[in-house]
Amino acid sequence: MKESIISCFVEQFGQQPLVVAAPGRVNLIGEHTDYNEGFVLPGAVDKRIYVAIAKNEKNILNVYASQYKQNFSFDLNEIHPVDGWATYLLGMTYHLKQIGHNITGVDVVIDGDVPLGAGMSSSAAVCSAFGFALNEMFGFGLSRMELALLGQKTEHTFAGVKCGIMDQFASLHGKKGHIMKLDCRSLEYEYIPFDFPDYKIILVNTMVSHALASSEYNVRRQQCEEGVAILKEYFPTINSLRDVSNEQLEKYKDELSEMVYRRCSFIINENARLLHGCDLLNKGDLKSFGQMMFEAHKGLSKGYEVSCKESDFLVVQAKLFSGVMGARQMGGGFGGCTINIVKTDSVEDFSTYMRDSYSKQFDVMPEIYVTQIEDGAKVVE
Ligand code: GLA
Repeated sequence: MKESIISCFVEQFGQQPLVVAAPGRVNLIGEHTDYNEGFVLPGAVDKRIYVAIAKNEKNILNVYASQYKQNFSFDLNEIHPVDGWATYLLGMTYHLKQIGHNITGVDVVIDGDVPLGAGMSSSAAVCSAFGFALNEMFGFGLSRMELALLGQKTEHTFAGVKCGIMDQFASLHGKKGHIMKLDCRSLEYEYIPFDFPDYKIILVNTMVSHALASSEYNVRRQQCEEGVAILKEYFPTINSLRDVSNEQLEKYKDELSEMVYRRCSFIINENARLLHGCDLLNKGDLKSFGQMMFEAHKGLSKGYEVSCKESDFLVVQAKLFSGVMGARQMGGGFGGCTINIVKTDSVEDFSTYMRDSYSKQFDVMPEIYVTQIEDGAKVVE
């Protein structure tokens, strides 16, 4: 990828660029907990967005997206949200300028292999790669966490998705062979080795792109906030679902609509699953961890309602396959990928079985990614 992006850059802009890569992510467990100030358990993966960048003498952001063979130019004095992926570059530029960083004209080529709309955080990888590249090139001295927060702000303001911090955090802080337990309230985190050579993390892409996802995502967030506002009347110290116990929720269940109750209940249990899951991983008990992934899927599908018939089908099929420890819908939901923990020696058979059963059912061939956990954003040497 490095050679091809450099030669593309030279062809487009006639100079040598700096090249940066930022990965997509998986999340083992803890879905939709980030914007509820809970915990998440992501890892960066071996699929990345690449940004090649160099300064130009104008006050213009020139971008070429090799995958789409598209060119854009934006005046740096007139930055505003646009439709499509370029909005992420504009958002990062805008927010960096807002906090006082002087960005002059740059030429950019962007490329990558993070599947789009697959729940692997391609948009966060774009923000992370571009933010990281600007930070390096102009020497702003921002920390990885500061860049992650700017990426999240960009999603909120330039893409209209009120996401949590997990994706941007993971893309910037990933560490080879490790997952990260992030406390989304304090932003403290620890690396946990994911050291199971006999198992692989496999993503099965439903190929259903989550067009619904951003609007429904924001609705889920609002429903959680509604639950918190009502429960706060009875427990004033509550600030987020992180602070709510199952006992508290049950006690005032009748004050909430049935739907809001289900949303809150899912989040409280998902957070508890994650905390218990970390203990299981530390003990090397992947079997019990996998069982919790199946439980999490049930909650995502029935309680939080962010699955879809394609993901449900894949999880049912995975459960029937003997080399699978656990499986569930991953990421924001409404399609994208399921995450599966599969015995290394069953990977081939599992892939064939999933391709056959899914394509027979939906007449679409799913893509399958056998992932490796890798480092976060970095300059490509
Ligand atoms: C998307 C969001 C994240 C997180 C997940 C669900 O990926 O960007 O912040 O909420 O969905 O866990």
